[in-house]
Amino acid sequence: MCGIVAYIGKRQAFPIILKGLYRLEYRGYDSAGIAILNGELNVYKQAGKVSDLEKFVEGKNVNGTIAMGHTRWATHGEPNDRNAHPHFSDTRNFAIIHNGIIENYASIKEELMQRGHKFRSETDTEVLVHLIEEINKNGKFDFDESVRLALNEVVGAYAIVILSKKDPNKLIAARKGSPIVLGIGEGEYFVASDATPIIEYTKNVAYLNDGEMAIISDGKLTVKTIGNKIMVPYIQQLEMNIEAIEKGGYDHFMLKEIYEQPRSIADSMRGRIDSRGLRVRLGGLGEYENKFVNAKRVIIVGCGTSWHAGLVGEYLIEDLARIPVEVEYASEFRYRNPVITEDDVIIAISQSGETADTLAAIELAKSKGATIFGICNVVGSSIPRATHAGSYTHAGPEIGVASTKAFTAQVTVLTLLAFQIAHRRGTIPASRFQALLNELESIPSKVEIVLKSNEKIRVLAQQFLNMRNTLYLGRGYGFPVALEGALKLKEISYIHAEGYPAAEMKHGPIALIDEEMPVVVIATKNASYEKVVSNIQEVKARKGMVVAIVTEGDQVVKEIADFSIEIPECDDTLLPLLSVIPLQLLAYHVAVLRGCNVDQPRNLAKSVTVE
Ligand code: G6P
Repeated sequence: MCGIVAYIGKRQAFPIILKGLYRLEYRGYDSAGIAILNGELNVYKQAGKVSDLEKFVEGKNVNGTIAMGHTRWATHGEPNDRNAHPHFSDTRNFAIIHNGIIENYASIKEELMQRGHKFRSETDTEVLVHLIEEINKNGKFDFDESVRLALNEVVGAYAIVILSKKDPNKLIAARKGSPIVLGIGEGEYFVASDATPIIEYTKNVAYLNDGEMAIISDGKLTVKTIGNKIMVPYIQQLEMNIEAIEKGGYDHFMLKEIYEQPRSIADSMRGRIDSRGLRVRLGGLGEYENKFVNAKRVIIVGCGTSWHAGLVGEYLIEDLARIPVEVEYASEFRYRNPVITEDDVIIAISQSGETADTLAAIELAKSKGATIFGICNVVGSSIPRATHAGSYTHAGPEIGVASTKAFTAQVTVLTLLAFQIAHRRGTIPASRFQALLNELESIPSKVEIVLKSNEKIRVLAQQFLNMRNTLYLGRGYGFPVALEGALKLKEISYIHAEGYPAAEMKHGPIALIDEEMPVVVIATKNASYEKVVSNIQEVKARKGMVVAIVTEGDQVVKEIADFSIEIPECDDTLLPLLSVIPLQLLAYHVAVLRGCNVDQPRNLAKSVTVE
């Protein structure tokens, strides 16, 4: 949700900032802007994408070795030029970029207006830069101190960078609730919302903690808290490589990420299965494994696709480990006064590790004494730092806004966890545990086989081109997959899609079925196969078009359905990992055919750091 990037050093900053903005564009693309400090403090900004900004600055003076850039996902104020970041203070001596929300902006704004400040935008952000100027104006406090004091007055979440014309060799960044990574090069520093704009210049990074600010000037970095305590930054090495964040010959990141799944699923389980010792080792679980084994209840929280992975987790843990599980939307959980006890184990799932509602749900559960286990993809992000224990999914950077490989990686980690806990609790025999582990290890090669249906699915996508509604049905382990398939289609192709438990169709959605409504059904040979076949008959009787995901060699469904896509046979518990792949491909091809921006669907953002 909003991307920020900044540079201070000896090189020309503009190309670094521009490239960084392209990398961060997945976080929001309502507007983009840049500020360059070169004696003057120049700001160029515009509604639209980074490519629009690039055209806009052509021929303008972008010289300078200190600069910052912003790509916006609008919260306060519509996405127009005025509301684009950076924002100036009244005198234009200060400029700010911000990711987050200043919650008490209205009262501060009111006070500043009474003191004569004139605001140019409707944003909450502009208030902060005016406040800094107000504190700084009579010379009592220098730049650093003015920023620090201002941050003590604001309530809310922020990752900010501020430049001052009066301090032409300085850059200040600060964070609370929104991420900031500092890149540390030779006599140069980078600041960004994630490591992708930094990776090609340096692998040395430090993550700012909540309530910390970084003051960089004259080749020196000082980190202190907004309470004025000097901190020693913990510098670590980035493990990501540059290929991971480029398209590598694919038309879109989403397609690349779909195709990466045999590898990313393998990476999620790499080194974690000890078939000989007959156990799963999730490094980050450690002594907390016993908490799971003895848990009276597990609560899974997440948003969007991560919530769907959580639903798979519920089915797995209840089915195999026999522990009651509840799956909660983080946004509901945090506000609905849930019952949480010290005996509860909470699993928080998040690709980005930054989702505001999930973070808040974690804090709530922590305050009630529950144990929190995180499943996240982005290393060093906020959620893994807020949890007691956790496992990274190791899917690598996911850039397409619609989540694909992160989902299958989350499900892989949940599967490993469920298998291990079930084994420890003795709710599955050792022979089944062994068989499940073996089957799980064969999933990457089975995903390769599913990917071979790509061309068939591309042709099938034509059928969806002019459709306005679709229904996705599944039962058991197929139900969360139906939800995820529907979400993929609606996010990127803007065709309305609903996921439903197949049997529930009779209680409402059946009324919608006609020739204009494709129905996608997970109809693989599992426990509820016969029942799903009956559901398909019910759709056909009403002239619905059925697209079925079937098990290799199936004849029955193939005969009734209009189109079918085969997936290899697998244990029921592993069905989500295979059956979701054709649905990802289907959504992708439909969106491409409809001319939609696959990687950056309208109104969405990949990392939602506002509630
Ligand atoms: C946004 C993204 C989704 C994602 C959800 C949760 O809505 O567009 O793809 O599933 O946030 O994000 P998280 O990073 O917590 O998994």
